[in-house]
Amino acid sequence: MSAPVVLKARGLVRDYPGRGGILRAAPPFRALKGVDLTLARGQTLSVVGESGCGKSTLARILTLIDPFTDGTLEIDGESVDIARARPDAVLRRKVRIVFQNPYGSLNPRQRVGAALEDELALNTDLPAAARRERVGDMLERVGLTRDHAGRYPHMFSGGQRQRIAIARALMVHPAILILDEPVSALDLSVQAQVLNLLAALQREMGLAYVFISHDLSVVRRISDEVMVMRAGEVVERGPAEALFTAPEHPFTRQLLAATPSTDVDAIRSRLAARQAARADANTVTHDREMPE
Ligand SMILES: Nc1ncnc2c1ncn2[C@@H]1O[C@H](COP(=O)(O)OP(=O)(O)OP(=O)(O)O)[C@@H](O)[C@H]1O
Ligand SMILES: [Mg+2]
Repeated sequence: MSAPVVLKARGLVRDYPGRGGILRAAPPFRALKGVDLTLARGQTLSVVGESGCGKSTLARILTLIDPFTDGTLEIDGESVDIARARPDAVLRRKVRIVFQNPYGSLNPRQRVGAALEDELALNTDLPAAARRERVGDMLERVGLTRDHAGRYPHMFSGGQRQRIAIARALMVHPAILILDEPVSALDLSVQAQVLNLLAALQREMGLAYVFISHDLSVVRRISDEVMVMRAGEVVERGPAEALFTAPEHPFTRQLLAATPSTDVDAIRSRLAARQAARADANTVTHDREMPE
């Protein structure tokens, strides 16, 4: 039996209003031109494509941050269109987003524990003691410690901050995480650790991921399905392995050719070499990483 579909979009269109001049209004800009996608529980769908093709536009629509202009969207079988009606709290809790730069989305003057607790205060009726307990549990779950709750965002490394952003996204137990370039700002070895964490969380919690990236070497490693976008349209989609071994669309081939190495073994050995070099130097990294 196949896993239930948790996210389904058909013909998603997004127009951004054109900026009007004094004499005439500019026509709207169509950032998405009819995008379909289907994502089942526990699966990862990656969205790849060059800068400006509409990946973040899609991410914001799927996360119910921005409305779509046309098409349909279903979350866990329920139809949703924020331009028409505000979805209820239960539906809104089902999908959460993690951005590329957690520093931008974390308030520098707010302790991390309070930021995580806010998610629960805003979205649930849990009493304060239960909220704090859940914050501690979640920090541990993402490879941090309970007393990290008392620290401010600047007291963490980039990798740790991304763990905090992931923890915050998971506080309300969503079914779906939209990950918009979640590791692109991180050092290569830290990228691998955060990707491992995401994979473990997905297994443990049955999460469905929409993983947005321009880095095909990362995408190949973690995706079940991949869709390739260009200028607001999906030009190719398919199971990850098939798409990487036999890309059909010339644009996909072009993207693959532009990626330094999409060979998993090459990446693994590069990472191993780096880690060995670090161990040799006996340096203590800022990141406390998950034991694998
Ligand atoms: N608020 C907005 N108003 C008008 N145009 C916008 C707005 N946001 C995005 N766009 C335009 O829509 C297109 C898609 O942008 P989007 O941010 O979705 O691309 P992206 O694929 O995420 O790119 P990147 O890889 O650089 O993050 C771009 O041409 C962008 O300039
Ligand atoms: Mg983007």
